[in-house]
Amino acid sequence: MRILVIGSGAREHVLTWKLAQSEQVEKIYAAPGNGGISNKAERIPIKAGDMEELARFAEEKSIDLTVVGPEQPLSKGIVDLFQSKGLKIFGPTKKAAIIESSKAWAKEFMSKYHIPTAPYRIFDNKDDASDFMAELQLPFVIKADGLAAGKGAIIVHTREEAEETLKDIMVERKFGEAGNRVIIEEKLEGEELSLLALTDGKSVLPLIPSQDHKAIYDDDEGPNTGGMGAYAPVPFVSGRLQESILDLVFEPAIRGLAQEGRPFKGVLYAGLMITDFGPKVIEFNCRFGDPETQVILPLLENDLAELCLAVANQDLQTDELKFKDNYCVGVVMAAGGYPGNYEKGLPIQGLLKAQTEGRLVFHAGTEMKDGQVVTSGGRVLTVCAMADNLQDAIASAYEGVEKISFDNAHFRKDIAARASRRKFKLSRQV
Ligand code: AMP
Ligand code: GLY
Repeated sequence: MRILVIGSGAREHVLTWKLAQSEQVEKIYAAPGNGGISNKAERIPIKAGDMEELARFAEEKSIDLTVVGPEQPLSKGIVDLFQSKGLKIFGPTKKAAIIESSKAWAKEFMSKYHIPTAPYRIFDNKDDASDFMAELQLPFVIKADGLAAGKGAIIVHTREEAEETLKDIMVERKFGEAGNRVIIEEKLEGEELSLLALTDGKSVLPLIPSQDHKAIYDDDEGPNTGGMGAYAPVPFVSGRLQESILDLVFEPAIRGLAQEGRPFKGVLYAGLMITDFGPKVIEFNCRFGDPETQVILPLLENDLAELCLAVANQDLQTDELKFKDNYCVGVVMAAGGYPGNYEKGLPIQGLLKAQTEGRLVFHAGTEMKDGQVVTSGGRVLTVCAMADNLQDAIASAYEGVEKISFDNAHFRKDIAARASRRKFKLSRQV
């Protein structure tokens, strides 16, 4: 099989690493890839948003399967374009990707199909939103409707902060057109959980549950980022809880999307809050999570290329996915200043020393410059470590992080720490 992976993050690096393990895969191209991907894939200088160019490349190289990482090309219809040319591609169509590209659409969809989520209101007018907020009990959450790289949901604790945030989104257009509408919703309390499932529109195969750490600083302080680290599996997720999420969330979502004339194939990602009243959906994504994928795929035993092809062919025959009986912890190293402004082009040392048995480094914002790996983005890389218990996996991941250095590197020091102390806030198992 000849595979094209679209995207340039650590998620695409781990996808490439895992796809390359398949005996069916003879060649992988990465468009555009990053500074660490070239030992498994040939890099192609086409950006993820350049859909026509990508389709031309796939036709020219007789690509058997294209796997799309990021949400932007999915929301712009890359799957529709490839399918119209008879090219096989893993991911949802533009119509199905709306579950991520419009949070307002997703909330109304959840209401219609009785999928548990936080109570909300949608506004396309700032004054109406402002009037509504004035009466609302603090804290609450203000969200931009469209795509905002994981940064478009803001929890506000004071009236001033609420007004300021609304102005940033709807007047200053901090997230551009994504701020044409806002969702104002109740703040949920509980433990967050990411559950991703492969689906061909009929069968649903859950991946191992994982937990992301979205805030930039330890103890979940500071602004949200794309994700600063993750681990899997999540100790508090019992088989019963996972079953209830499949019944309450995935089954109605997949059925509902089909009923709306938007059948979904690819990977559906439910960002959940496990509250005292059961699981509630914070958001849906129409793709693999980042950094969740970096900790899920090293544990997966099945052949990913076969699975992705089966999804693309809408012929998923596998009954259940198999995972190693290990924990995987991934710590993101970011450029100082991220998610705000940061420097690029900083030399990275220690990459080889950090990789040992059971420990992997997946690149994101990196480039090769004169034979040296340098930083080129906000989230620079994810260091992942596997062990048969969570404590050892955490220790090994941080040992890897300590071996890597670049100026102003920032990473959270508490990835998976709460889980390893087992201090979950859940007052009862759901
Ligand atoms: P979203 O972009 O909707 O995934 O939100 C990003 C992050 O904001 C989530 O992962 C949560 O940490 C937080 N968040 C969003 N909505 C809520 C909510 N209703 N209650 C509590 N936290 C939330
Ligand atoms: N880790 C959050 C996301 O992929 O959206």
